[in-house]
Parts: sequence; C-alpha cells; structure tokens
Amino acid sequence: MSEIPHLTLNNGVTMPPLGYGVFQTPPEETATAVETALRTGYRHIDTAAAYNNERGVGEGVRRSGLDREEIFLETKVWVSDYGYDETLHAYEKSAAKLGVDVIDLLILHQPMPQHFERTREAYRALERLLADGRVRAIGVSNFMPHHLDALMESAAVAPAVNQVELHPYFTQPAVQSADAARDILTQAWSPIGGITFYPGYGDDRVSVLDDSTVQGLAARLGKTAAQVMLRWHLQQGRSAIPKSTNPGRIAENFDVFDFELDDAGLASLDALDTGHRGGPDPDGPDPSARNFEIPEA
Ligand code: A2P
Repeated sequence: MSEIPHLTLNNGVTMPPLGYGVFQTPPEETATAVETALRTGYRHIDTAAAYNNERGVGEGVRRSGLDREEIFLETKVWVSDYGYDETLHAYEKSAAKLGVDVIDLLILHQPMPQHFERTREAYRALERLLADGRVRAIGVSNFMPHHLDALMESAAVAPAVNQVELHPYFTQPAVQSADAARDILTQAWSPIGGITFYPGYGDDRVSVLDDSTVQGLAARLGKTAAQVMLRWHLQQGRSAIPKSTNPGRIAENFDVFDFELDDAGLASLDALDTGHRGGPDPDGPDPSARNFEIPEA
C-alpha cells in the first residue's frame, strides 16, 4: 500500500500506523473480519494471546491471498506467561496459532506491578526473541511512566511501542511525553473511545462518538466522528488500532487519508481530556490472580 504512510519504529522497522484491532472479536468471526479488513486495505493487524482469536487472524491472513511480508502482525503476551522461559514459550504458542515464523511486533500485554521481576524476565525473553530474529520489534502495553522507568533499569532494548488506552476523553499526556522521551511510539487502544461505550462498563458512560465537539468537527469536514478521531491520532504521530466487525465501519475507519484536521481542530480534541481512564488501572488488582491461562497451540 504505497499510498498509505508508514511509521518508522525506533529500531528502523516500518509499520502502518493504522492497524485493525480484534479485541472482543469472537474467535469464529475473526477470520472473516480480518480478511475483510485486509481486502479493504489494512496491512497491520493487532491481536493478543488473551483475545483467544490468534488462529482466526492467521486464517484471515491466509484467506486474503496477500504475501506474508505485506502484512504487519502484532500480538501480546498475557501475564500468566510472564517469566523468561514462559515468555519464550508464549512466542511459540502465538506464532503457531498465527501460522507464522516471525511476529512483526510482540508486546507485553500489561505490567504486573505485583510481580515486576516476572515482567522484567518476560521482557528479557522478548529481547532474546528479537536478537534471534523471531520478532522484528518488541514493546509493551499499558505501561505508565513509572513502569517504563522500572523496566529500563534492566532492559537493554527500549520498547518500540507502548500501546495504551487513548481517545479524546483520556489522552494520557504524561504517558505520551514519557514515550516520546524514549523514542517509543505511542499506540492507541480504543482509539475511537469504544471503552467509553462498551456494554458492561457502566451505565453512566458518555460515548466519545456522541461528543458535540467531535460531532461538530465531523460535520464541518463531511466526515464521521470515528474518522475525525483517527485522523487526530495519525496527525499527532500515533498508531491507532480501531476495532470493528462491521464491513461498513471497517471501511469507514480506513477512509482517513484524504483529509486533514487543522491545528484548532486538533487542539479542540486535545481539550476534551477528562483525565479519567475507561479501562482497567495498570496499577490495579494483580492480573495474575484471575487464573486465566493461554492454551497451547
Ligand atoms: P462494531 O464492531 O460493531 O463496529 P474502539 O476500537 O475505540 O475500542 O471501538 C470499538 C467499538 O466501536 C466497537 O463497539 C465497534 O463496534 C464500534 N465502532 C467501530 N468503528 C465504528 C465507527 N466507525 N462508528 C461507530 N462505531 C464504531
């Protein structure tokens, strides 16, 4: 996709900034959704061992008929697989489920503050996989600045990416600055604020998609609220991975390369930050207490 710009990660690897996310996509729907996304033009897919749909991602990639090298595959190691040997094995599980030899970007799903030594060991395994050419880039997710500081006390390789909750209602300026200071690319999960309206996250939620500022900007530009938010991420240099299983919205979310927000438009979205996260606190309850294991391939 030569017309779509790429971002260059801190190790020189290039990545399409706009990825297709499959969080909460049911395993049985994933292959079709991924195939649809690839036919639409996406060339970057973001999944996770914990989403239980890596097999579907691999199947969608094969069904697309595209060469493996044309597609950037990103997945995440779940906390129950943290530790050096455990994370090396987690790579084997994910690679087998995806049906690939090399994973483009492998990241830690979240810090485990209660078991930071295991988090460090997991990252050390990512460094090994990188040195061995089994992954092209490594990174983290849901790391706050103090987690990055703690990781970098022992890490030899800075993460290429930090994937965090980021939408106009929660812009994480401190995380963005901490990432930028280390040349880490900030990647937005829930980039159009799905976390602000997902069922089950509380009745008092206000969807960013319905926000009057976002809606007003969209109306002025003849675009949709989702497109305006994705444009905001891209113009501010972030990667974004919107999720949809609806073919019309999959296409809508990719149709963001023919317009621009001006500085005032960008600033108006920045100003919507509430400082309140929609998703789990990375320093919240011990995630390993959930007793959730990733099955073998
Ligand atoms: P669906 O899969 O039915 O399209 P996020 O990626 O920010 O978490 O948002 C994902 C949520 O937003 C999902 O509920 C998805 O539902 C919905 N969604 C995705 N794209 C759009 C869009 N362009 N307009 C409205 N809702 C969208």
